[in-house]
Amino acid sequence: MTAARSKASGLVIDSPLKSNKGRGTRVVYQGLYNGRPAVIKVYSHPMRRRLHWFLCHFNGKALRKRGIPAPAVRYSGYAASLEAYVIVYEKLEAPRDFRWIKTEPDRARRLDGYRRLIPLFAMMHANGIAQKDTTPGNFLESSGKVHAIDEDRMDIRPWPLGKGASLGNLASVFTQFPPEGSQDMDALFNSYMNARNWKPDARWRRYLDRRIRRFRAWRKDKRGYERKRNLLIAAAAVAAGLAIWLAL
Ligand SMILES: Nc1ncnc2c1ncn2[C@@H]1O[C@H](COP(=O)(O)OP(=O)(O)O)[C@@H](O)[C@H]1O
Ligand SMILES: [Mg+2]
Repeated sequence: MTAARSKASGLVIDSPLKSNKGRGTRVVYQGLYNGRPAVIKVYSHPMRRRLHWFLCHFNGKALRKRGIPAPAVRYSGYAASLEAYVIVYEKLEAPRDFRWIKTEPDRARRLDGYRRLIPLFAMMHANGIAQKDTTPGNFLESSGKVHAIDEDRMDIRPWPLGKGASLGNLASVFTQFPPEGSQDMDALFNSYMNARNWKPDARWRRYLDRRIRRFRAWRKDKRGYERKRNLLIAAAAVAAGLAIWLAL
């Protein structure tokens, strides 16, 4: 990948870590800020950059104010030389996100990974924060601590999340990277409920299962919908091509 280099008040942008250009909002780079390793989120869309930057900036402020472990923000605002809004984070040391959990063959190790995530979810929910973007790449382990990152789609409320909203968010996580079998799910449900000082009763355990089933059905439908849409687009393109060919 070509490295885009630019200097703006101590900011050096290097190679992209991940691009969300397809969705038109942001690109995440690694680089330097005042000579120190940094991760830089760049919002450069001509129309939407300010709004998307502001949402992430606002959510990030609430996240840190409420004491959730997260990488420190070194700078947030406009970078004239990039003609973009940026958020500059400290780069965590030897970061490891939780994507490994999807491919880890050892069940006990996977369960252990989940156990390390549960206190972070409980803390976020108790502080009125839900990470709506529940991919395992949005939770980073570094120096023995699990951090929340990617504030773009966080939902911030002035009050703690109730049981329904909390277990719904947990269900979304477990749909993305599901634990194996109901025994592991029981253990994680219990440890989540205990962390929130809630009684882990059977009714809410069934509720969690129901929400997971609903998420799964929706994800399946989503794929079906996308397939149908692509077929329609292809058919329309063929029809348009045919019409042009007949008209000539
Ligand atoms: N502070 C950080 N330190 C180290 N790596 C990071 C940091 N922030 C993000 N990353 C890496 O960049 C990836 C994308 O970051 P993220 O904020 O999730 O961007 P996106 O909004 O594009 O999903 C993460 O999965 C992680 O691997
Ligand atoms: Mg992310």
